[in-house]
Amino acid sequence: MQRNLILLGPPGAGKGTQAQRLATRWGIPQVSTGDMLREARRAGTDLGKQVASVMDSGGLVSDDLVIALVAERLDREDARKGVILDGFPRTLAQAKALDALLLRMGRTPVQAVAIEVPEQLLIARLSGRRTCPGCGASYHVEFTPPHSDGVCDRCGSPLVQRDDDRAEAIAHRLEVYARDTAPLIDYYEPRGALRRIDGVGELDAVLDRITKSLDVQRDQ
Ligand code: AP5
Repeated sequence: MQRNLILLGPPGAGKGTQAQRLATRWGIPQVSTGDMLREARRAGTDLGKQVASVMDSGGLVSDDLVIALVAERLDREDARKGVILDGFPRTLAQAKALDALLLRMGRTPVQAVAIEVPEQLLIARLSGRRTCPGCGASYHVEFTPPHSDGVCDRCGSPLVQRDDDRAEAIAHRLEVYARDTAPLIDYYEPRGALRRIDGVGELDAVLDRITKSLDVQRDQ
């Protein structure tokens, strides 16, 4: 069965964390537009240079750029069995473009899971997040710390804080989410393609809620 899943939710909801775990469990790729854009910046490509300042401020990259990135990614061989989209779509224009793209490619329509977390906890998660520039692993100084302080468990690289995890950028990202991305819930929910789950709790408990909500969706 092909599965095209969107993880929706505000910054810090745990989309990336859970997308990685689902990707491992189901053997399909995690497609994170945030990771793809950060990779372009690390590689110093024209795209990377173009998006750097808007990303650091917590704003959104233009729809055209991210839609083109996702279209190219979905066309690759490993995406034929399905994908877990994390951080895309983020605007109504992106959601409509994704529907059109999947239809044109003859793929299964999307299912969406909205991960809900109170704002104070989102801020605590984002300000304590540390990421590995070597392998992309993500930690939290308090909630999911690495075994050795400031060092990646997987590859031994020193961990860093994302520029957009500074206080001013976090505030702006939350505003942008409320204005541009939260309305997607009303786009997917009326057609029965969205489930809301509580994103507070142990990582395994949240994962379990996601998979159970999808079973309910499939049975209906
Ligand atoms: P992106 O990388 O997508 O950032 P985001 O949506 O703001 O999401 P985050 O990565 O901050 O949060 P998350 O929900 O993945 O949480 P995580 O699992 O890491 O985008 C970055 C930027 O790129 C955007 O601002 C924009 O500029 C641009 N961009 C990307 N896509 C775009 C698009 N489609 N259109 C336009 N622009 C785009 O968890 C957070 C922390 O909490 C971690 O430390 C984690 O360890 C911890 N944690 C997670 N779950 C739990 C739990 N259950 N208990 C305790 N701690 C937890």
